[in-house]
Amino acid sequence: MATNSKTLLVSDLVSSEKIDHVPSNYIRPISERPNLQDVYDDPIPLIDLNDLCGPNRSHVVDQIGLACRKYGFFQVKNHGVPESTIANMMQIAREFFKLPEQERLKTYSDDPKQTTRLSTSFNIRTEKVANWRDFLRLHCYPIQDYINEWPTNPAHFRAHVAEYSHSTRDLALRLVDAISESLGLEKDYINKQLGKHGQHMALNYYPPCPQPDLTYGLPGHTDGNLITILLQDEVPGLQVMRDGHWVAVRPVPNTFIINIGDQMQVISNDKYKSVLHRAVVNCDRERLSIPTFYCPSPDAIIGPAPKLVTLDDPAVYREFTYGEYYDKFWNKGLASVSCLDMFMATSSV
Ligand code: OGA
Ligand code: NI
Repeated sequence: MATNSKTLLVSDLVSSEKIDHVPSNYIRPISERPNLQDVYDDPIPLIDLNDLCGPNRSHVVDQIGLACRKYGFFQVKNHGVPESTIANMMQIAREFFKLPEQERLKTYSDDPKQTTRLSTSFNIRTEKVANWRDFLRLHCYPIQDYINEWPTNPAHFRAHVAEYSHSTRDLALRLVDAISESLGLEKDYINKQLGKHGQHMALNYYPPCPQPDLTYGLPGHTDGNLITILLQDEVPGLQVMRDGHWVAVRPVPNTFIINIGDQMQVISNDKYKSVLHRAVVNCDRERLSIPTFYCPSPDAIIGPAPKLVTLDDPAVYREFTYGEYYDKFWNKGLASVSCLDMFMATSSV
């Protein structure tokens, strides 16, 4: 019979006992299950960023614009993040999740306001059904405000994660410039809307799961930030909504998956969509994924770019601070209805 789990983290549940079924608190009602046999296999666009700083820049900008409009998701190669930086990041994440339980639990917290914390599922304070995921969440920009909170075990954790977050910030800034241009805005328009800027990161660990058709690593959701840069290992699990179907995204070594988040949808006044995606689990292999969430600072005021608001295209959203949005995002829990519905222009007073 299914039982509730006794450990804080799902990784410790899996390693502490030989489980052959999913405990009842992880089981989704039938109508919400992943239907893994109904998933399509269709590649998302792969964009070469090499030419972003050459005479062919406008061609790459157009490709990015098309991918943002049509899919909300694309992959990038020649992105400028060194292979060794990526390998060190993956390795240190793997080592972190292999540490003894009491060592990992030093950073455990179920409070989404904590800026460095290990937790499980998504928000166990608000959700009814748990997800088959543990995660270490870190704030990483401005780095000097947070690095002293980060774990010191494994030994090189801070050095490797600092190098990786520095390099992915650089990539995020290049992408934000290109996306701004692709919308017909000044190259630095979006950059200037982000206040002092922010950057968060999650180290997601999905243990093998005995019944992957009953639960999720992460259920369908959109990302609440501006853009996400996802690094994943070689185990599939990410699925993206396209034309009403779930499409599996196959991992390609040394590429990143980029997706548009809710803030970019707002700034673009709905030209670009923050697309639903989810992570499913499997019976055989653990999976690691490391999203970098590039975001505005909490005090930044976000709203549709005036240049994209016309009589034919009125503002879809009201203005709000990112801090206000972020609190709603975490409290609402992951649901297929986006948090954006709470920020529509028509519901403002
Ligand atoms: C996320 C996310 C996907 C994955 O953390 O927001 O969508 O493949 N992760 O882990
Ligand atoms: Ni996501």
